[in-house]
Amino acid sequence: MAGDTAVFYVPDRARVITARREPSAIFLEIAFEDGRALNHQPGQFVQVSVFGYGEAPISICSSPTRPESFDLCVQPKGNVSRVIGALCPGEWVGIRGPYGRGHFPLEHMKNKDILLVAGGIGIAPLRGLIHFLCDNRKEYERLLVVYGARSPSDILFGEEMEQWAENPGLDLYLTVDKPDRSWQGRTGVVTEALKEIKIDPGITIAAACGPPVMFRFIAMELLKKHLLEAHIYFSLERRFKCGIGKCGHCQLNDLYVCRDGPVFRYSDLLKRTEAVEVWAPEKDQD
Ligand SMILES: Cc1cc2nc3c(=O)[nH]c(=O)nc-3n(C[C@H](O)[C@H](O)[C@H](O)COP(=O)(O)OP(=O)(O)OC[C@H]3O[C@@H](n4cnc5c(N)ncnc54)[C@H](O)[C@@H]3O)c2cc1C
Ligand code: FES
Repeated sequence: MAGDTAVFYVPDRARVITARREPSAIFLEIAFEDGRALNHQPGQFVQVSVFGYGEAPISICSSPTRPESFDLCVQPKGNVSRVIGALCPGEWVGIRGPYGRGHFPLEHMKNKDILLVAGGIGIAPLRGLIHFLCDNRKEYERLLVVYGARSPSDILFGEEMEQWAENPGLDLYLTVDKPDRSWQGRTGVVTEALKEIKIDPGITIAAACGPPVMFRFIAMELLKKHLLEAHIYFSLERRFKCGIGKCGHCQLNDLYVCRDGPVFRYSDLLKRTEAVEVWAPEKDQD
């Protein structure tokens, strides 16, 4: 087993193909040195290392249906993410992964309506899923995407979203917390936009990704719409170190978020006391 772990700890060399900067994030297209595909599932993550600086877990935001390279979207926040944010085309990084047994439930979603809810950088893993669903459109029914950003300049994949909205059967609900003078769209938190949406709970699967504080309120809204707890999935973020279920940094009761997630069924989270404290709806709310 020790040998096994050692193999998983060795990053593979990969090159930055393109780097596009927006006010709140950098978008990187990356390809392995040996040209192989990443072979990931939507919802999985990679451990990205910048040689001499360190490593950070980052969601894969492209779809495995577009395998020549893979995309990452990174918000520069701290030591490693700032260095990732300064990468230029042609520079090398180390990649471990793809990791995470818990990814978005593509089989469970088949022939169902799909409601995706994202806040902030949470749109990154959902973008990979959206591309996958658009590339396999016939196997899935309605696709509803609700995305909330702090301000118009914080909207990620803005130009691309205009193309998503042209996709038949895809409805996009975009909202910002703090509008500027040019903003003519919805204003308010993502759960307010969620209230507008009518779903058929019998045939809908929901998946959400964003700041942990958002999950409790999203869960409350979805349960009010009579969605089953087993039909709701959350992609969680914890502090990761090893990324492969060895160090315990990301532990949530008996779960290692890096290994068993990062995407979990809400009904499974509610069986864990540590998760209930953070994500269960408050009893006194209607
Ligand atoms: C499964 C997973 C997927 C992720 N996907 C993305 C992604 O697609 N794009 C992206 O920009 N970021 C993503 N993150 C978050 C990213 O990994 C952290 O922001 C990064 O590790 C910070 O490292 P750093 O060295 O830059 O920051 P540090 O210098 O270590 O910390 C900077 C600040 O960020 C906080 N922080 C660090 N890590 C986390 C974390 N995991 N959760 C909450 N706060 C944290 C610290 O407390 C500190 O305040 C993801 C995290 C996980 C676990
Ligand atoms: S990060 Fe080490 S066990 Fe999850």
